[in-house]
Amino acid sequence: TSIGALMIGLAYLLGSIPTAVLVCNSMGIADPRQQGSGNPGATNVLRIGNRTAAALTLAGDIGKGAAAVSLAHFAGLAGSALGLCALAAVLGHLYPLQGVAQGGKGVSTTLGVSLVLSPLLALCQALSWICLFALTRISSVASLVTALLTPVYAWLLIPELLGILTLITLLLVARHARNIRNLLHHDEPRL
Ligand code: G3P
Repeated sequence: TSIGALMIGLAYLLGSIPTAVLVCNSMGIADPRQQGSGNPGATNVLRIGNRTAAALTLAGDIGKGAAAVSLAHFAGLAGSALGLCALAAVLGHLYPLQGVAQGGKGVSTTLGVSLVLSPLLALCQALSWICLFALTRISSVASLVTALLTPVYAWLLIPELLGILTLITLLLVARHARNIRNLLHHDEPRL
């Protein structure tokens, strides 16, 4: 329906908001797309900036994902239509309107959409990430393993969205291609 299409478009636009770039610009930190890993995400903002900037980036990226799905929910969407809005928000972050090469890796945005789709899913993802990071001190390992666990959690918690969440996992893993290459060569940096 047209309201569905409208909410999917809006979710994509919200996902396109370049939180990391906006935070770094406003705090006098270098452009995260030019420094460190080159990724506009909370991890790289912590790497090149500071904890406050990283926390704001994390909150902004979670917030835009959560907002996209919440708005669709309030507009009356449910089930797979809501799932498509979640996918659109993540796609907006990965491949934003302002340039496909400007996108991020989608970890925080996925946490944000999950928070509204199923708070328990988001809790499982957050705890997985925290435990894996505590064990390895490598953000990409925590992100990749959490992404791979997400279809398992989805299957248990919201099986009707298993397909869409599996697709999101595949997209996130693909966006971590360079991290995977670094890990295989044993030169992915610890934080
Ligand atoms: O969430 C992104 C993280 O998994 C990796 O970020 O900057 O270390 O490539 P980065």
